[in-house]
Amino acid sequence: MTIVSPSLLASDFANLQSEVEMINNSNADWFHVDVMDGNFVPNLSFGLPAVKAVAKHAKKPLDIHLMIQNPDLYIDAFKDAGADYLTVHYEACTHLHRTIKAIKAAGMKAGVALNPHTPVELLNEIINDLDLVLIMSVNPGFGGQKFIEAAINKTKKLKDLIVNKGANTLIEIDGGVNAETGKKLVDAGADALVAGSYVFNSSNPSDTIDILKKL
Ligand code: DX5
Ligand code: ZN
Repeated sequence: MTIVSPSLLASDFANLQSEVEMINNSNADWFHVDVMDGNFVPNLSFGLPAVKAVAKHAKKPLDIHLMIQNPDLYIDAFKDAGADYLTVHYEACTHLHRTIKAIKAAGMKAGVALNPHTPVELLNEIINDLDLVLIMSVNPGFGGQKFIEAAINKTKKLKDLIVNKGANTLIEIDGGVNAETGKKLVDAGADALVAGSYVFNSSNPSDTIDILKKL
């Protein structure tokens, strides 16, 4: 079954606890939480207090997507806030290997996200150290954008890289995921799908999560 990580960015922030309970009671696997700094991406979203508030009620792992510069400064703080998976952007890390080691040393699973223009080949030398690679299928910063089709081929290339290197890395895709794009991504090798607007704008989010799980 596909791992499904609903993105809270599309949830009703004024009713966050009931949104968290909906995910607790659904067949979703993780909580996807998008952290933005208004610098790496042209938008602001959740910060540490919001992550802590979600962690208090969440009964499933927190999959934290850091769209921030200098993520090294906040690794321990996100661990304390309740992060299980901590994903940093390739484009925001000058010393990526050091950052990944620090995330693992803090006791979390380590992920790297790739912007649409960043080739998977750049992960050649670090793939065996990664628990997760997040392929962005939109430009990060906003929910509800159009899916970039090139992400499908990129997923295939990443799957080949992981198999060739004998790595044990999960492939997660984020942006514009719905039943149609999700199916193509799973066929290409995706293990996990992030979905924001497709889940939260649907009439029955729990049923929509089931649709993605079965892809
Ligand atoms: C975008 C975020 C996504 C976003 C996806 O920068 O990383 O997680 O919530 O939203 P949808 O699924 O609506 O494209
Ligand atoms: Zn995200």
